[in-house]
Amino acid sequence: MGGHPDDRWWRGLDVQLAGYLPSGGRVLDVGCAGGQLVDRLRATGFDAVGVDPKAPERPGLVRGLVEELAGEAEYDAACAVMSLHHAALEPVCAAIVRLLRPGGVLLVSELSWDEYDHRAALWVDRHDGSGKDTAVEAWGREHAGLHTGDTVRAAVADVFEIDLTRHTPYLSRMLARRDLEANETALVECSSLPPLGFELHCRGSSRRR
Ligand SMILES: C[S@@+](CC[C@H](N)C(=O)[O-])C[C@H]1O[C@@H](n2cnc3c(N)ncnc32)[C@H](O)[C@@H]1O
Repeated sequence: MGGHPDDRWWRGLDVQLAGYLPSGGRVLDVGCAGGQLVDRLRATGFDAVGVDPKAPERPGLVRGLVEELAGEAEYDAACAVMSLHHAALEPVCAAIVRLLRPGGVLLVSELSWDEYDHRAALWVDRHDGSGKDTAVEAWGREHAGLHTGDTVRAAVADVFEIDLTRHTPYLSRMLARRDLEANETALVECSSLPPLGFELHCRGSSRRR
C-alpha cells in the first residue's frame, strides 16, 4: 500500500459497516477509484471488492462499470462514496440491488452540489488559499450535468428503504481541512451554511425488487 491514504471522503465508513456486518462480510465499493477504501475495509477484516472504470489493475479491484459485474446476491453490503452523482442512476441502482443479498446494506455518501450558495462561496473564499474562483456561477459550471442530491436520493429511495439520512461536512473535506469540519457542521446546524454533504444508510427492499 504505502503512503498515507486520503481518507477524507470515506473516513468512518469502515466503523459504520462494522456496526452492520460481522468481520469477513462481503462488501462492494461502487466507484472505488484508486481502491483506498477497499484497502481499509480489507485491513478491517471485510472481504471487500471495488469496481470502477478507473480502478488500477490489482487484486480486489475490478476495472469496469458496476452494471457489468456478473452475479446475483453476492454481497452483504455495498458502499458508494461520491460516485452516484456521476453515475447512470437507474442501471447502477438496479445492479446494486441485484448484487446485494436480500436485506443487504447500502451506505451512500453524497453531495447536494445544487445547494451551494453565496454563504458557501464566502466560507470557501475565507478558507481557501488557492485563488480558485469560488463564485456560485463557477461552481454551477463545474458541476453542470451531475445529478443533484435530490435526484440521487430519489433514485436510491426507489429501490431501497432509507433507514437513516444525515448531513456530513463537504466544503472542509473539499479543502482537505479536517480542522474545519466542526466549524462547517456547526454553521450548517444553525443554517448559516447550506447542507452539501449527506449520507444515506439503506436496506434492500424485496418489495421493490
Ligand atoms: C468522484 S469519484 C469518487 C471516487 C471514490 N469513491 C472517492 O470517494 O474518492 C466517482 C467515481 O465513480 C466512478 N463511477 C461512475 N459511474 C460508475 C459506474 N457505473 N460503475 C462504477 N464506478 C463508477 C467514476 O469512475 C469515479 O471514479
